Amino acid sequence: MLIAGNWKMYKGPAETRAFCATFEPPDGVDVVIAPPYVSLAEAVASGLTVYAQSVHWASAGAYTGEISAPMLLEVGAAGAIVGHSERRQYFGETDETVARRAFAAAEAGLGVIACVGESEEERESGQTELVLRVQVEAIKDAVGTHELLVLAYEPVWAIGTGRTATPELAQEAHAFIKSLLPRPVLYGGSVKPDNAAELLAEPDVDGALVGGASLEPDSFAAICRAASSRS
Ligand code: PGA
Repeated sequence: MLIAGNWKMYKGPAETRAFCATFEPPDGVDVVIAPPYVSLAEAVASGLTVYAQSVHWASAGAYTGEISAPMLLEVGAAGAIVGHSERRQYFGETDETVARRAFAAAEAGLGVIACVGESEEERESGQTELVLRVQVEAIKDAVGTHELLVLAYEPVWAIGTGRTATPELAQEAHAFIKSLLPRPVLYGGSVKPDNAAELLAEPDVDGALVGGASLEPDSFAAICRAASSRS
């Protein structure tokens, strides 16, 4: 079981330090936090496992605003999220750029959490499997079944909305994703302390990618405990 906290654009170094001083991950579960780039070093210093929220595919170059895998390794990050729906929606990420980022990160020895998921419109028009297939196959073509690769199923309509997928719906999507690419699959989208246990009880839910509820040490720890008691 892997529980990853995606902090998005929250917590500079001071708030990161305060979180890490209070948060204690339970035993029996792998826990990752993904703070903004400027807080990575502070988070690494706490001894927690730390991922970035994206990573570029080149190791260096004229790519203003980007960060490379060797740079992340240098500050002690252990991995990176790639292809989050907010990156796809607001920053022009495509299946191709997501795949390139995932490949470069895994090649460099970073853990990768590659995100996929359908929008509300796509689900309502019956296109969920088609969308997931296209997204997953782009990642598979680039990275294969690399042991550093983990996928995250994050239905866009469930992110930050309080509308969680039902455990059955998550299970169905996870089983489909694994039929295309047999790697662990995290669920993401409004995971909270009070729904984590039922989601994590599904056989193909291998952990969670948590946004809002990862910002408070108590709620994030409660979700981590739900995972630790399942594993
Ligand atoms: P949320 O975000 O838990 O706040 O819905 C999840 C994510 O975007 O990874």
